[in-house]
Amino acid sequence: MCGIVGYVGRQPAAPILVEGLTRLEYRGYDSAGISVAGPHGQTVVRRVGRVRELEAALPKRLAGTVGIGHTRWATHGPATEANAHPHTSGDGRVSVVHNGIIDNAAALRDRLSREGVTFTSDTDTEVIAHLVARSTAPELEERVLESLEQVVGTYAIAVLDAEAPDRVVVARNGSPLIIGVGEREMFVASDVAALVRHTSSVVHLDDGELAVVTSRGYRTFTRETPDTGREPTTIETSDEDVELGGHGHFMAKEIAEQPETVARMLRGRLDTRFGTARLDGLNLSPRDLRAFRRVKILGCGSAYYVGELGALMIEELARIPAHAEAASEFRYRNPIIEPDTLYVAVSQSGETADTAFAVREIKRKGGQVVGLVNVVGSTIARECDGGIYLHAGPEIAVASTKALTHMGVGFALLALLLGRVRDLSVADGQRIIAGLERLPADIAQVLGQEDSISDIARELSAAESLFFIGRVRGFPVAREGAQKFKEISYRHAEAYQTSELKHGPLALIEPSRPTVAVIPADDLTSRNLAAAEQVMARGGRVVAVTHPSVDLGEVGARRIDVPRNETELDPILLMIPMQLLAYHAAVSLGLDIDKPRNLAKSVTVE
Ligand code: AGP
Repeated sequence: MCGIVGYVGRQPAAPILVEGLTRLEYRGYDSAGISVAGPHGQTVVRRVGRVRELEAALPKRLAGTVGIGHTRWATHGPATEANAHPHTSGDGRVSVVHNGIIDNAAALRDRLSREGVTFTSDTDTEVIAHLVARSTAPELEERVLESLEQVVGTYAIAVLDAEAPDRVVVARNGSPLIIGVGEREMFVASDVAALVRHTSSVVHLDDGELAVVTSRGYRTFTRETPDTGREPTTIETSDEDVELGGHGHFMAKEIAEQPETVARMLRGRLDTRFGTARLDGLNLSPRDLRAFRRVKILGCGSAYYVGELGALMIEELARIPAHAEAASEFRYRNPIIEPDTLYVAVSQSGETADTAFAVREIKRKGGQVVGLVNVVGSTIARECDGGIYLHAGPEIAVASTKALTHMGVGFALLALLLGRVRDLSVADGQRIIAGLERLPADIAQVLGQEDSISDIARELSAAESLFFIGRVRGFPVAREGAQKFKEISYRHAEAYQTSELKHGPLALIEPSRPTVAVIPADDLTSRNLAAAEQVMARGGRVVAVTHPSVDLGEVGARRIDVPRNETELDPILLMIPMQLLAYHAAVSLGLDIDKPRNLAKSVTVE
């Protein structure tokens, strides 16, 4: 939810911390702060608002080559300067930045208050600063370890102590934290986006692990093991991947990149001769794959909607029952885990707490779970038994676009593989492969209509409320269309199954409440057209997201044409206009596209 950065080296820390925070702002952006260890103790500066406000508030000469920083998305207490991180001990000696939630914060606050500690914030984090400052252990790393032994909850933390000004101590439990290895300088971050400008060599910490980081290197350890010897790995993300590269917004960049990123994702994964997919990362043999009698897909928000699409693809191509469920619900209902079910966790960030919890629950009960995850080395990717990396590259805009398209492609590959170990013929497998190979060009063709789609989006943006409707394969597309629209335009957008309209919501149809209808050329076209006609007959306006061969005839709707691919893959393409509609509606309303209000990129807390 929030972003953490840290620096230990020879350069002034403040500009590096601020630059890192700017890159992490998409993870949380209601307040920000840094703490720098200088020759005369620590300087802590915090501001409500964006990182640029923090930057403007920094003293001109802020010496110090060791520091930590944070950009916050409020969980405990409102977005005020007092609640912004870093939090400090009473004497200002220790400062701490934290992502996650300390479950026993109230009990620790009570105890510390009774011992004479005065709290200056409403946050759970502040207890950590006081615990570290009160520890009498000789080394900072021991003081942090000792403090964390009293803490119950999830955290990624970075700690600075004026008594050990050459180091930052970090710890991870349930929230991501990585160390970037440079030349006589080291970096700390909750996300690679903050590091890529400086290094591609990173160390991923595991839950329960801590590290002491100095300019000379790092040592990872746990309570039981003084040196866990964690080695760096090389990340593929480049500086360019996290820059706007001439686009007005990250969302626009990420939409535009899709033809290229999808082609990259497919490379080496298609076996044309046998009409199947190569997915070695699943770690499942054909025999294993055949043994599954059901597939259960778990994700949150838009990932869940694409999971619904994935379930349909699996049922169509592999003919085994498949079902998607919101991971945020699944985790709370003591789910029944079956040995012959393949569980699939789908997540862009790989850090969504609800999805990660679902994965743990499945594993705890002996289930087999694979991941469709974008961020390499993320929590969910590491906790699953195997998986398919999405290879969409970093996604910075809070509203997910390209990662969702890649999830759709990932499910198509999985469905193809599951189908081919069952009854799907080689010829049908080859048909799907040919369709997948056409996807990049088909996406480019939709993107080529951006001008006309933006005109329609501008008209839609004037409506306070909209319907998005679709049937069967079109329904997850409609759900995602409505989700994208409301996320960034703040318009009320409601998704409905086309077949359900007449059972109630038709009463709401009127000229001021337009309907975006998904009408693919398939066996349901005539039924979808009939529903669109019913809407128009009641004075409603309709925008049809459709295929060129569909004759809208009397319906009189505006149309956005998407190239026809294979029926099973069409929904992937039908989602692309939804991205452009939401984006251009928000542009015409002058809204903050990449950082919509009240939202953050990955929801790492409950
Ligand atoms: C999508 O636009 C949303 N920001 C949100 O619904 C997102 O898809 C969801 O929170 C899941 O995130 P994940 O893919 O990182 O797990």
